[in-house]
Amino acid sequence: MSHFKDKNVLITGGSSGIGKACAQLCAAKGARVFLLARDEAKLELASSQLEQSGGSAAYFATDLTRPGQVARAVDQVLRKSGAPDILINSAGAGAWRYLDQTSPTQALEMVSAPYLAALYVTRAFLGPMLKRDQGHIVNLTSAAAFMAWPGATAYIATRWAMRGLHEALTLDLAASSIRTTLGVFAKVQSAYWRHNPGSEERVPAAQAMIRTLAPLEAADALLKGIAQKKELVAAPFRLRMILWQARIFPSLTRRIMLNTGHRRQAA
Ligand SMILES: NC(=O)c1ccc[n+]([C@@H]2O[C@H](COP(=O)([O-])OP(=O)(O)OC[C@H]3O[C@@H](n4cnc5c(N)ncnc54)[C@H](OP(=O)(O)O)[C@@H]3O)[C@@H](O)[C@H]2O)c1
Repeated sequence: MSHFKDKNVLITGGSSGIGKACAQLCAAKGARVFLLARDEAKLELASSQLEQSGGSAAYFATDLTRPGQVARAVDQVLRKSGAPDILINSAGAGAWRYLDQTSPTQALEMVSAPYLAALYVTRAFLGPMLKRDQGHIVNLTSAAAFMAWPGATAYIATRWAMRGLHEALTLDLAASSIRTTLGVFAKVQSAYWRHNPGSEERVPAAQAMIRTLAPLEAADALLKGIAQKKELVAAPFRLRMILWQARIFPSLTRRIMLNTGHRRQAA
């Protein structure tokens, strides 16, 4: 039987990109899916697409950077179905910019989603999950959480923050039956690049060594890893090799990123 059958799966950022693809696959495997994101029209569309293909879906339009809105959405989910069996933190945004091109407001927005959004949502469900001593928390981050490259300072910092949150939480939960999985992807051809203009052209040329994934491919790798209770899912395969290289040869990796990364025009 599918690992996802009759499970409650809550997906932040479930109206687009990797989150939406996770929702499609989870619903197809028999899960009840809850979607959280801000844009109600996109949520409605995603949810009705899931139901048209026979899935079960509900959504709550929520700005996850607002603790009050998170508390309201979490309360509704808890009353409807209890704490999720699987929580996937996929909501995130942030344009790739040099730090001096990033306003304090933009920096705060980037810290707020994905990082604070994942922290607020996880925190709100943690009590009920611990009480039940059951659940699976999944955080998404980027290869940027394991290395840096030029021209995306605040973006990279927040993806490291996601990794830090994930690692710390995993240790906090070690004595419980709650599982955690960190999903790490290189480039995924989602609407992210349209939502965060000026970013795609700053992808380091070294990315050409790694196949770009479609959102459904990223979601499929993630869901397989969740079912197998893997602590880390990194896709595609070549990214796993590069993460290994970054750990063993950090100076070499830094040089590659510097040499193939964005070059700033002289002022
Ligand atoms: N695409 C890639 O190449 C790639 C690779 C590795 C990792 N990632 C990471 O994966 C995450 C998802 O990326 P994606 O490609 O799926 O992007 P996407 O297609 O732009 O989707 C982002 C989702 O997050 C939601 N969201 C953004 N800010 C939010 C907020 N304040 N409150 C609630 N929801 C919010 C968006 O909906 P609303 O705008 O309606 O709120 C949308 O549903 C990002 O953190 C990204 O860094 C992406």
